[in-house]
Parts: sequence; structure tokens; C-alpha cells
Amino acid sequence: MEIIIQKTAKEGSAVGGRIVAKLVQHKPEAVLGLATGSTPVKLYREMIQWHTEKGLDFSKVTTFNLDEYIGLAADHHASYHRFMNENLFDELNMLKENIHIPDGLAEDVVGHCAAYEQAIVEAGGIDLQVLGVGSDGHLGFNEPTSSFASRTRIKTLDQQTVEDNQRFFTEGEEVPRHVITMGLGTIMEARTCLLFAFGEGKADAVAEMVEGAVSAMMPGSVLQFHRDARIILDEAAASKLKKADYYKWVYGNKPEWQQY
Ligand code: GLP
Repeated sequence: MEIIIQKTAKEGSAVGGRIVAKLVQHKPEAVLGLATGSTPVKLYREMIQWHTEKGLDFSKVTTFNLDEYIGLAADHHASYHRFMNENLFDELNMLKENIHIPDGLAEDVVGHCAAYEQAIVEAGGIDLQVLGVGSDGHLGFNEPTSSFASRTRIKTLDQQTVEDNQRFFTEGEEVPRHVITMGLGTIMEARTCLLFAFGEGKADAVAEMVEGAVSAMMPGSVLQFHRDARIILDEAAASKLKKADYYKWVYGNKPEWQQY
């Protein structure tokens, strides 16, 4: 694990934007795994800037999103389809057929999940998976006790996640309890995992995930087993890490050949 601590979410997102841009410059047909939630919005703004101001070309890029709510149509205001279009895809020159998000209205959920896994394989696997982390440690919608070997499948949300995500729904509207999410096993096969966490509300989950025991009760801790997991934090999210000074020194003193 590499822990990158920046002063603000904006600076952390700029570091992430450079990592994504470098990958796409080097490999124009890169396969990106993408996440939703408030956290990656600033990263997506950086990616849009790379495209509009520096001409970064996304026309050959393929994407796979982590998850979607079951029962929400693509145009529902709280669907992850809508979120991704509004926060990223509408501003990039990606081809529609290269964008993949689980279908919340799939009739055959099991078959759809298997086809989603197959599409990732056919695309050559995910080069870089963007991740956030839930306050209960979930990745995608892999709630506590999710198997580290899990694949894309249906999951039931924890009450904590329902409450956390209520803000994306209108008052009185129920957050769907069932979702489709890539599994932890799917996520672990990405060549690089880039997890962002910002704000004090994530400090406990980050400390447990990075420095705590590896446990299915803290799904994010599976990244301790990943060969290239980079965790980008602001000061607030890093505030409960015991070895924060060490991580800062390491990042600030990287040999040039190791920088990105
Ligand atoms: C949702 C998403 C996760 C995301 C999490 C945190 O539950 N399924 O992928 O990491 O929210 O969201 P936020 O970034 O808004 O804190």
C-alpha cells in the first residue's frame, strides 16, 4: 500500500488526475474502473480538465463502474448511471459502447452479473480501479462480511449505508436496499487500485483499513493484499493514522524514477 497524504481533497484529486492522465497517455485504450459518491467528483473534474484543456483523449478508453441500485432506471435522479453521465461522461469524448455500468433493471440479475464479469475479462481486465470507501469500510457496495473472493453479484445494503446515501434521494424517497456490485475479488484483479478518502468522517475507516487487521468486517482492508494499492487522503481523513509522518516522508522523498 502506498499512502499519499495531501493537504486538501483538491490537491489529492489533482494527484489522482495525474495518475489517470499518465495511464491514458501511455495506454490510450486503458480500462478504468470507476466509482460514485461525493469523493471522486473532484477527480472527475480533474479528468475533464485534462480532456478539455490538455486534449487528453478518452475515445479509446473503456470503463466499468463498480455498482448500481437495483430497481432504478438509468435516468432516475439518484441512479449511478445518471451520476456518471452528469459528473464525467457528458464532458468526455468516450464512446457509449465503451461505458459499462451494472443495469439496475436487469431481469436476470445473476446472468447480468456473469456477463459483466465476462465483459471485464474480454476488455483485458481493469488497469486502474478508482475507489472510495464507505464509513463502514465498504468498497463499491461490498458491505462488512463480504467475501474477499466475491464477484459481481446482488448485495443487500447495511442500515448505515442506507442512511449515508439518503442524501442523494429526495425526502421521503426510499434508498433501494438491493444493489449490484463488483465483488472484492473482482476489484482485487485490477492492476492498480486508487482509493480516495477525504474528510474527518472517513478517518476511522481509513485507519482501520490501512493499519488495522485484515478482516471481512472491514472490506477495504483487503487492499492490504493488493500489489499496487494507492490510498490518497487529505489531512482530515489521515488524522487517525499512526504512521502518517512516515507516509508523508516516503512520498516526499521518492526517487525521481518512482514518481508519477
Ligand atoms: C457509495 C458507493 C461507494 C462509495 C461510498 C462512499 O456507497 N457505492 O463506491 O465509496 O458510497 O461515498 P462518499 O464518497 O459519498 O462518501
